[in-house]
Amino acid sequence: MKILCVGGAGYIGSFVARGLHSKGYQVEVLDNLSSGHRAALFTEIKLHHIDYGEVSEEFLSGFNYFILLAGKIRVDESMDNPWLYWHENVFKLANFLDKIPQDSVVIYSSSAAVYKPKNHPLKESDYLGPSSVYGATKAAAESLIEHLALDKNKIRAICLRYFNAAGASADGKFGEDHSPETHLIPLLCKFALGQTERFVIFGDDWETADGTCVRDFIHVEDLAAAHILALEFLKKSDARFEVINLGAGTGFSVKQVISELETILQRKLKIEVSAKRPGDVPFLVADIQKAKDLLNWSPSFTLSDILKSALQFHKSKPTGYPDFDS
Ligand code: UFG
Repeated sequence: MKILCVGGAGYIGSFVARGLHSKGYQVEVLDNLSSGHRAALFTEIKLHHIDYGEVSEEFLSGFNYFILLAGKIRVDESMDNPWLYWHENVFKLANFLDKIPQDSVVIYSSSAAVYKPKNHPLKESDYLGPSSVYGATKAAAESLIEHLALDKNKIRAICLRYFNAAGASADGKFGEDHSPETHLIPLLCKFALGQTERFVIFGDDWETADGTCVRDFIHVEDLAAAHILALEFLKKSDARFEVINLGAGTGFSVKQVISELETILQRKLKIEVSAKRPGDVPFLVADIQKAKDLLNWSPSFTLSDILKSALQFHKSKPTGYPDFDS
């Protein structure tokens, strides 16, 4: 197995690459460092500082397993600049997949953003209907991969639909560092640590038990472990194409997350409330039976573990990773 982790210097990608390296797999990273960080990788992991839209067929011929985590991830940005999202997440991906060797194995990082969440928990077979351009590009990428796997017989692939990835390594050395940060848990932790002045809940009048949105938070270490199991599954089986949800299988509201953090800190936080954020949906909770059955995977970290590790990361790296390369 010669594995190329594309977007492997990003938040989730770096956990996957370090996880593979620690288990003795032969893994290299390709990343343009537009949002990834060299410091998020061990120095022993070879990093190719190239955009995934610009690699040559010859370079790609050196690998037979590809974990694809590159691309743009912000819902709000995708609504402001749809073309950028189609270009980065779909056109570049199609071009990349065209160049990889016949019979490659692909693990693709998809998102819960592909669903139209009418019910919960959400099953892989549930109705798709992205509410953002970001979600639409992830759904299109899944279709592209499905076609290459089932009609063209070029690749075998698994699309992993992440729910809300969060948390950091237990020692606080590796964690979430986006610029700008838009995600709930890092923003809450930074506020609790006094690194930012305000924290605002986007709407408390949703049709949920306490009026705030419910999300399924999955520890990034659990996500990384699922990628390795997905690779092993495709190595051992002759499966051609699967789509698998990755979440904890349990929902917590924004207010419940705040309350859990207050319990850890043993103090109350002064939280503000504003209007709803465009593009949000009230519930996003995964049915994770398929991941359990097919990959023999189940999450091992709790929301409290996620929050404690994230606090530790933001405490030790108040300004994030040193960006000596980007
Ligand atoms: N939230 C706040 N205040 C903040 C930030 C977030 O109240 O300052 C709320 C949001 O309104 C939402 C919840 O916290 O209800 C979670 O928001 P995040 O931005 O952390 O995550 P999302 O659920 O919006 O997005 C995640 C991924 C996306 C993906 C989406 C759907 O980050 O990439 O799930 O799968 F598209």
